[in-house]
Amino acid sequence: MPSKIKDAGLAKQGKLRIEWAETRMPVLMRLRKENSKSKPLQGMRIGGCLHITTETAVLVRTLNSAGAETVWSGCNPLSTQDDVAAALAEEQIDIYGWRGLSKDEYYWCIQKVLDSKPNLTLDDGADLVFTIHESHPEQVKNVIGGTEETTTGVHRLRALAEQGRLKYPIISVNDAETKWDFDNVYGTGQSSIDGIIRATNVLLAGKNFVVAGYGHCGRGVAMRARGLGANVTVTEIEPVNALKAAMEGFRVTQMSEAAKTGGIFITATGCSDVITREHMKLMKDGAILSNTGHFNVEVSVTDLEQLAKSKREIRPNNMEYTMPDGKRLYLLAEGRLVNLAAAEGHPSEVMDMSFANQFLSLLHLAKQGKTLKPGVYEVPKEIDQQVARIKLETMNIKIDTLTEDQARYISGYGAGT
Ligand SMILES: NC(=O)c1ccc[n+]([C@@H]2O[C@H](COP(=O)([O-])OP(=O)(O)OC[C@H]3O[C@@H](n4cnc5c(N)ncnc54)[C@H](O)[C@@H]3O)[C@@H](O)[C@H]2O)c1
Repeated sequence: MPSKIKDAGLAKQGKLRIEWAETRMPVLMRLRKENSKSKPLQGMRIGGCLHITTETAVLVRTLNSAGAETVWSGCNPLSTQDDVAAALAEEQIDIYGWRGLSKDEYYWCIQKVLDSKPNLTLDDGADLVFTIHESHPEQVKNVIGGTEETTTGVHRLRALAEQGRLKYPIISVNDAETKWDFDNVYGTGQSSIDGIIRATNVLLAGKNFVVAGYGHCGRGVAMRARGLGANVTVTEIEPVNALKAAMEGFRVTQMSEAAKTGGIFITATGCSDVITREHMKLMKDGAILSNTGHFNVEVSVTDLEQLAKSKREIRPNNMEYTMPDGKRLYLLAEGRLVNLAAAEGHPSEVMDMSFANQFLSLLHLAKQGKTLKPGVYEVPKEIDQQVARIKLETMNIKIDTLTEDQARYISGYGAGT
């Protein structure tokens, strides 16, 4: 297969890491076993644009085992795990991606996926879907449907649909309860802290830690930073989420206030220009800046570059910027997703649920996609419930079942005092 990766010599290490992830992803592994004989994805060519990590490798193997052909590119210039890409290429999986892609190379990889003329797409951030719509509209007729993994991708696709420009059905996997309330919260919470620690090795206890955005990801990061003893401040633009943060016991204020005292900053908003030159000017010497939102637009890297008189990489994924007055600010992972660029992304156990939703949604599209009109669709409730049920089983957790009387009671609510 004509893959393009960084170093085929890394395949052995990649295989071992994928094998380890497989031992932590029991839901996906069960789905693999259940579908490997019947091959319900036979005849499907799936084009993927998703972080190339061990967990993605487990998903790709599962899709292949269910009969699909897959062609893959990474969805971020810094998130590809080169050993995983090498392992997949050795398994004859068509894969295009390496860590440190330029913008041109990034879109070249996506183009290679499109050259295979996929009839299902799997996106994380919607760059594949946008490339089809903008540069290859002739391919739309081949596509039965697609799935979207992340919040920002879903926002972009809904915007496209509202303008009447989305040309095929997409399932917003991000919005499944077993994805958004777990992957974004516990996955981002743990892995973003992991990325900050690997890039800095700083002590979190006693630090002033500022989280911009108290949605799913921000809530997870704030919770885990507090667990390590940091004093957590939250900034928000949405009143209900700000209130939730305040009642959870976090200090809530504006970024222009938080900037003065913060030691570590992380953005988790999906918005742009959350930390800009005005904030940077107020920051203390030594402040650390990072982002865990999808694109590298939350911390203004341009502003930092313009303010600084010099920069040097002081540790991997950690750039020291020195200001004309000698103050130093540190930007992690070039302002890209700190958990994927400076660490390994979410732990496998939580991606197990996200990717089980991906697998089952693609199966659903393969069966029923042709009956759906263009638009953004929720993951069917049954899939969400199925993922939760299997996950509980694999965790050996049993829950109660309604008695007939209880079922009657809660469906009627006729009985009062
Ligand atoms: N790092 C990862 O691995 C990872 C995983 C999942 C999602 N994401 C990305 O993280 C981002 C957030 O996702 P989410 O699921 O938490 O979304 P969400 O909608 O649940 O939360 C976003 C929050 O940010 C707030 N916000 C928006 N603009 C703001 C601003 N200028 N200042 C302060 N707060 C602001 C919103 O009010 C909201 O509460 C998205 O870009 C998503 O794609 C990253």
